[in-house]
Amino acid sequence: MKAIEIKPGIFWTGAIDWAVRDFHGYVTPDGTTYNCYLVMDDRVTLVDTVREAFADTCLESIRSVVDPSKISQIIVNHIENDHMGALARVMQSCPGATVVAGQRALKGMERFVDVSGWKVRPVKTGDEISTGRFTFSFIETPMLHWPDAMMTYVREAALLFSQDAFGQHLASAERFDDELQACASSARLDDAVTGYYANILMPFGSLIRTTIGALLERKLPIDMIAPDHGIIWRADPGRVIRAYMDMAGGKADERAVVIYDTMWHGTEMMTQPIVQGIRDEGVGCRVVKLRATPMSDAVTELWKARGCLVGSPTLNNEMFPSVAAFVTYLRGLRPRNRIVGAYGTYGWGGGAVKKLLSELQAMKLEVVEPGLEVMFRPAAQDREACRAFGRQFAQKLKAYHRSLESS
Ligand code: FEO
Repeated sequence: MKAIEIKPGIFWTGAIDWAVRDFHGYVTPDGTTYNCYLVMDDRVTLVDTVREAFADTCLESIRSVVDPSKISQIIVNHIENDHMGALARVMQSCPGATVVAGQRALKGMERFVDVSGWKVRPVKTGDEISTGRFTFSFIETPMLHWPDAMMTYVREAALLFSQDAFGQHLASAERFDDELQACASSARLDDAVTGYYANILMPFGSLIRTTIGALLERKLPIDMIAPDHGIIWRADPGRVIRAYMDMAGGKADERAVVIYDTMWHGTEMMTQPIVQGIRDEGVGCRVVKLRATPMSDAVTELWKARGCLVGSPTLNNEMFPSVAAFVTYLRGLRPRNRIVGAYGTYGWGGGAVKKLLSELQAMKLEVVEPGLEVMFRPAAQDREACRAFGRQFAQKLKAYHRSLESS
């Protein structure tokens, strides 16, 4: 694949993974890209690499600009396998190159590859390297989203290599935001940004606000953001920065999502009047059935909405396994500023709703209690109770949303 020039002398030399659908458990219906960048100067620099399986694609792309043996330094912004997997292969082509990375990255790197014969240069926030006409400066961003993470800013190009941050799992022939919006839509791009944030960066909201806030305080001119996944932001890089600040601040739409699973349709039968009750209050509501929907999509829907009801039948005194898995995944993502509740059916003994509420409490979410339980399947009066349950939840959602918006 031929390199694509994104700024004079700076090239995208990454790979498009059209086929990946399971990215370490995160479902990627639109595939992804592994972006890396070649900066041509007196000293040639490569910023990040790609997933190991795409090493040849990356090298071919580099060769379309320069012989890889001319690379004099490789900046490693993040050591996760999708960006550093091909580093050893690339280093075979330029064994004299210096690997530039943060101290934590260099330590972590040793766990993946044999670096004993490599020249390495540790860098920290504020360090700068000149390659001729370009100056690279480094900004450590620990826990965004690994301890080793950093970004690299190229002053003369007003370009920020942001690594995972501001990325999207989106394989496309387009390389830039304006191109994708023209070919697909803004909404598609927004969804990809939100899905990526919800599933990868949600736990780090306060850190993201602090880090981006500090970045903005430096008043660095940024007219392009080049992340390690998805499209490059050149038309309006401020848009994705604003979106991140909003999401990191817990911003959500004043609407609900109902996420449920069902054994013999009892919990499903409860869902319909509950949704009707929510809509009676003028609150929009999406419905997600687990096992029919990837868990990463369910989390994205939860993240977009201010409120979420989780429905589960009781199986052997426990939550239904798919619901338990969803709750486990959600707990690790540490959601904030969401109002939640629970409902479900049971046979001879309950348990799922109580356990769900306890899990949601432990996540420090705003929990609406009590939940609603129905034996086996809802009769007519139960369906009325479900509708009232939905109405009450929507009323509380609206009040909670407004309290957050006014604070
Ligand atoms: Fe795209 Fe954290 O790796």
